[in-house]
Amino acid sequence: MPSSKNLIDKNCLPKHIAIIMDGNGRWAKERGYERIYGHQNGVVSVRETTEAAAETGIDYLTLYAFSTENWGRPQKEVDALMELLVDTIEKETPTLNKNNVRLLTIGDLSRLPLNARGKLQKCIGETAKNTGLSLVLALSYSSRWEIVNAAKTIGQALLDGKIRVEEIDEQVFSDALTTKSIPDPDLMIRTSGEERISNFLLWQLAYSELYFTKKHWPDFRKEDFYQAIVDYQNRERRFGK
Ligand code: FPP
Repeated sequence: MPSSKNLIDKNCLPKHIAIIMDGNGRWAKERGYERIYGHQNGVVSVRETTEAAAETGIDYLTLYAFSTENWGRPQKEVDALMELLVDTIEKETPTLNKNNVRLLTIGDLSRLPLNARGKLQKCIGETAKNTGLSLVLALSYSSRWEIVNAAKTIGQALLDGKIRVEEIDEQVFSDALTTKSIPDPDLMIRTSGEERISNFLLWQLAYSELYFTKKHWPDFRKEDFYQAIVDYQNRERRFGK
């Protein structure tokens, strides 16, 4: 079968693609394994998608790797996920550098174990000068947390006399979010058939195109990523106009 890669119009690429990587648990259960087996296989999809994004010339790829709500999962799964995340980041740092990929994070990193935070900071530092794809990991992230936090930041600036009420606009609010200086996603992909936003980038997805696929995340491959881009390019975006 010909690859959808050839159908992509390089002149109107989405600048930013965000992905809710869903279905790892179900993928593993369907095969009679523990949920963590699904997360382990999900790493292959992370690698494939990151490579595809870099090769295509996408500027930003945001992956919802761990939500604020995920802290409520059984401790064993939380620990295993953290270990997997951090080990992967550590192991993949040379590959990120080889491919000119810069690592960024959004979310409440203060909730992460100290050693995880350290390894993340190390990778962020070591890839900071890369100018290709920015890979943004949403970790301990939820949009309502982020929005409340932004409200607190702006409230404090008001109290400190650094800003006046009349000056608060969409730009001021955007700049108080953890995604400051990251453009809004043009396309949001969610795997595994669920058609929800689930507390992910609520402010930033205001005008994004949404793409849902039934595939579980561990089955998601480059071709699926290309198909989503082709689908996006066949849509007409009007931004309410
Ligand atoms: C959702 O599946 C997936 C996650 C909560 C975690 C995603 C994490 C990885 C793929 C691990 C590695 C990531 C990086 C960035 C190195 P689910 O458990 O909610 O599946 P279910 O809906 O079938 O239960």
